[in-house]
Amino acid sequence: DGVVTIGLLGCGTVGSQVVRMLSEHGDDWVARSGARLQLTGIAVRDASAERAPWVPRELLTEDAEAVIDHADIVVELIGGIEPARSYMLRALHAGGTVVTGNKALVAAHGPELHDAVQAGNGNLYYEAAVAGAIPVVYGLRESLAGDKITSVAGIVNGTTNYILDEMTTKGLGFEEALAAAQALGYAEADPTADVDGHDAAAKGAILASLAFHTRVGLDDVPTTGIRHITAADIAAARADGNVLKLLAVAQRTADGVSVQVRPTLVPQAHPLAAVRGAFNAVVVEAEAAGRLMFYGQGAGGAPTASAVLSDIVAAAGHVVRGSKAPRESAYAALPLLDPEHV
Ligand code: HSE
Repeated sequence: DGVVTIGLLGCGTVGSQVVRMLSEHGDDWVARSGARLQLTGIAVRDASAERAPWVPRELLTEDAEAVIDHADIVVELIGGIEPARSYMLRALHAGGTVVTGNKALVAAHGPELHDAVQAGNGNLYYEAAVAGAIPVVYGLRESLAGDKITSVAGIVNGTTNYILDEMTTKGLGFEEALAAAQALGYAEADPTADVDGHDAAAKGAILASLAFHTRVGLDDVPTTGIRHITAADIAAARADGNVLKLLAVAQRTADGVSVQVRPTLVPQAHPLAAVRGAFNAVVVEAEAAGRLMFYGQGAGGAPTASAVLSDIVAAAGHVVRGSKAPRESAYAALPLLDPEHV
């Protein structure tokens, strides 16, 4: 009867916003996806912990496998590798559809997840894994499918951009700026992943894989974070007409593909220099399209939930129609180059 059931794994900053949006838009979902979306379970580590007031208590459980086994669409917002990986494999091998925001897992275990999608004939969506609300996964995979992308360069970690921005504009110390980013809900549970560039590296690997139809894993991305950046570095950059940004850069050359993450001096006139606070931006160069820029909120509960809901709507449409999506990419094995030599 057009009902698509949804099981949520994790109910933190993003998960609780997904619950709110699912309930608030009610019947609207039928018009958008062709299905009535019904949240049937919310798996959490501690069902007795305090939650946002709109989270239905009766749906909370500590039994994630029961939630997975009773849902058409499993929405994984736990983060980290385990148990998220096992839960997603369970759902995919059973032929289920998974929506995830888990960049670390998609970047580190992409081939394994892809194989599970094939084996179960299911689907995997991960718009929320890269740059929160910004539709850059769809943009690269679908909107630019007719073009040849030559480079992708972006600010893809809100926490570090916020920290660098606060240090630049308010003269805050590193620790102080990090604490503020955590309080605003931008940082990962373990902010080391933000500060040392691993979160940006995971997103860079995903963007490169999509842009160049090749497999780039987390280990393929040489990464330097911002822990060592001082107020003096920031002042020196400024004096020279630059802004210091943590960039993920992926390039295609005649010989292969290179990806890296590192603090980079961006000239003040470059569009990436104007990206403030926790905002993200991704600049894509494509042969026919030329330069495109994707800009928006890359972190935080509601913006990231927006991307999750977009995947849920797409997934529900495919569940009711029994069709297969997203479009499968034919992966080429392009050589990975050392970015220092590109
Ligand atoms: N910690 C991440 C960031 C959240 O700061 O961008 C979004 O992936």
